[in-house]
Amino acid sequence: MQMTTRLEVHPIAGALGAELSGVDLGADLDDATIKEIRQALLDHCVIFFRDQAFDAEQHKRLARRFGEIFVHPNYAGIQADPEIVMIRREPGDTRVVGEDWHTDTTMMAKPPMGAILYAIEAPPYGGDTLFANQYRAYDALSDGMKRLLTGLRAIHSDRLVAGPNANANAGRTTKTRDDAAWRETVNRHPIVATHPETGRPVLFVNYSYTVGIEGLTDAESRPLLEFLMEHGHRPEFTCRFRWTQGAVAFWDNRCVKHLAINDAGPYRRLMRRVQIA
Ligand code: SIN
Repeated sequence: MQMTTRLEVHPIAGALGAELSGVDLGADLDDATIKEIRQALLDHCVIFFRDQAFDAEQHKRLARRFGEIFVHPNYAGIQADPEIVMIRREPGDTRVVGEDWHTDTTMMAKPPMGAILYAIEAPPYGGDTLFANQYRAYDALSDGMKRLLTGLRAIHSDRLVAGPNANANAGRTTKTRDDAAWRETVNRHPIVATHPETGRPVLFVNYSYTVGIEGLTDAESRPLLEFLMEHGHRPEFTCRFRWTQGAVAFWDNRCVKHLAINDAGPYRRLMRRVQIA
């Protein structure tokens, strides 16, 4: 039987982020509830839920209500289920997945629309995730900078986060592909992208994947990208989510950047992530 719920939405910061209550994400939710969740995502860019309990199959069923599951190419053959990425941080790890400000997987021609991240084991403190609103980042640019960026396309590659030269796996329990058969994926995206559902402009560059600007030399593009990437996470564009066991974050990858803080000290942190195409 499909479940109808009454959602309550509580914003957690001025720029983005809202906690939703009154819904069991493990249930077979009806269309009206899915529509409300989708609207909350569009309105708040990232939405959070507490005290959820659902297994991997229920997690995938939930994700499929919003689109097809995105299979991450750089975890292929490493993770047990290609549709799921387990993000495991063990005591003693010196690095974690996602510790630079990034939008997920932007080396793809069509980056995923979002991700649903579920906390199986949360540290008692530390290991929070930061999110930054890229509508606001764009809106806050001067008119001159907006004009300068019009028509420019950035080059996105996964060579900084995977492959034999990335050195991404040292000190990190969760590995990405670094085998000799791995091949770099490169695509170009407008620096000012348009969100396909809201039609609003967003700033679309990030530390993990953006490696240059089409038609510019490295020396020319580097300072501009550096400015834009730093600008994109000014504190007033951000929110911070403190994880508890059973918490969920669902972000709209088309308009937020995020960062996992590597400060869980002696504690394990275990997350299950499903991305949506
Ligand atoms: C990610 O970048 O998808 C991981 C975020 C996190 O573990 O908080």
